Amino acid sequence: MTKESLARRKKTGSHYTPARLAQFVATKILENYQPPDSDSTIRILDPACGDGELLLALVDNWPQETRSCLSLIGIDLDRIAFQNVRHRVRNLGVSSIDLRREDFLDRVLTELESTQPLPGSLLESVDVIIANPPYVRTQVLGAKKAKKLASDFNLSGRVDLYQAFLVAMKHCLKTTGILGVITSNRFIATKSGSRVRELLANDFEILDLYDLGDTKLFEAAVLPAVIVARRRQAPLFRTTQSSKFLKIYETLEQTFSDEVENVCTAITKRDDRVVRIGRDNFRVTVGTVDVPLSGKDPSSPS
Ligand SMILES: C[S@@+](CC[C@H](N)C(=O)[O-])C[C@H]1O[C@@H](n2cnc3c(N)ncnc32)[C@H](O)[C@@H]1O
Repeated sequence: MTKESLARRKKTGSHYTPARLAQFVATKILENYQPPDSDSTIRILDPACGDGELLLALVDNWPQETRSCLSLIGIDLDRIAFQNVRHRVRNLGVSSIDLRREDFLDRVLTELESTQPLPGSLLESVDVIIANPPYVRTQVLGAKKAKKLASDFNLSGRVDLYQAFLVAMKHCLKTTGILGVITSNRFIATKSGSRVRELLANDFEILDLYDLGDTKLFEAAVLPAVIVARRRQAPLFRTTQSSKFLKIYETLEQTFSDEVENVCTAITKRDDRVVRIGRDNFRVTVGTVDVPLSGKDPSSPS
């Protein structure tokens, strides 16, 4: 990759999801999604769809019987991504495909501020969101933009673009709708992640949380996490719940119990163990964590 394209990626947070991870997130969503009994439309949104890998993975794993009920919405700002996704999502056998080249955050803000529903409204209308929103930290966003995002989306501390996306995505989900999202893992144990932890605790039931640590799934120096969550009927305050948790980090331990092909295979089995992937060993730790997350590293989940 050239220096310019690396810099551009950093600025726009465009770290595309590897196909295996896209498949993994899609299967986790489907394990938790209960389709409606009738053959009503199921609206699926990727608000930062890039070239469509996540939408494709979800359709690919969707049961054949209800595939024709799917209505896909893909949004992205990038011109090239937009051309690619248009090409890739043809002939999927779904009910409709609505691709929009626009700023998702602006769109949600406009809708929230509007006194009447806008055409193609997203608010509280989506059954499933699958996403890998851009990660762009305050230093790269610039102070002015970070300040505006913080005020628009009620964030505090060192704002990252993915945090604003999480708030905006909440507004788009129907109650009981499912979110399957890849983010930076920084919200788990940083001060600036407190608003995200609060949002997840109050507005969502966390069904599965994966800290993918230093598995280098992305080219960028991002340590990813996967959150699978269901939007609550109504916000729930000051209640502690526990949620399924798995983390995987490189280890110097030499003895391993399994040799697996890749990280996604390693995390599919919920077992405490050391696995070998290529020439490196990784410790998989499984258990539960208390939600609201405490803001400390859940180093040994119970
Ligand atoms: C991390 S990439 C993910 C792409 C794709 N969903 C995937 O998983 O491979 C983030 C995408 O967000 C897009 N993006 C950045 N800011 C955006 C915004 N405000 N609204 C919509 N898309 C945006 C970028 O162009 C990029 O394609």
